Amino acid sequence: MSSKLRIAILASGTGSNAEAIMRYFEHSKEIEVVCLGSNRKMAGALEKAIKFSIPSFYQASKKNESRENFDLRLIKKLEMYNPNWIVLAGYMRMLTPGFLQHFKYQIINIHPSLLPLFPGANAYEQAYSAKVLQSGCTVHLVDEGMDTGKIIAQKSFSLLPNDSLSDFKQRGLKIENEFYPQVINEYLLNQKSSVRGAI
Ligand code: GRF
Repeated sequence: MSSKLRIAILASGTGSNAEAIMRYFEHSKEIEVVCLGSNRKMAGALEKAIKFSIPSFYQASKKNESRENFDLRLIKKLEMYNPNWIVLAGYMRMLTPGFLQHFKYQIINIHPSLLPLFPGANAYEQAYSAKVLQSGCTVHLVDEGMDTGKIIAQKSFSLLPNDSLSDFKQRGLKIENEFYPQVINEYLLNQKSSVRGAI
């Protein structure tokens, strides 16, 4: 049986980060992407999973369904792939405490700002409107708060004088796509060796 670390991706949108992660780990000997789940039927991320032959699923929210119940159903689907880590790549739902506990808080996210600045939705828009000269992205662990978990790594980039919002976002997303898989790789392998070292 393979001893690779198994990561499950959750994504709601275009999926440029999901794609970058699937590409990065495609031939890895140590980490594999085992599935991709989405709460949006039309999410581009689902198409990208097909391209990389990664099993994928869409989970719709039922009418009047509680967040807890949605996440319980999601846990059941994810557990079919037995993941060690959950990686959020533009996943636009807050995870419930039950979900976080089930996966022992082994959940990673990327946020498009230098946290703690500009948490929440539309962080690029927030940073652009505030005209901050140094922007960036943050890879962090997920906890119960909104983008409040422990910071793993950050990468900054400048707002250039003639940047439109779209230039700024495009440059940021390109940096995210390079940075996120590298940070996941390094962090997970470090965690693995420190757990082994403790035994
Ligand atoms: C990224 O900016 C990410 O930081 C944020 O949502 C966006 C997702 O983009 N959480 P994509 O779907 O990965 O292209």
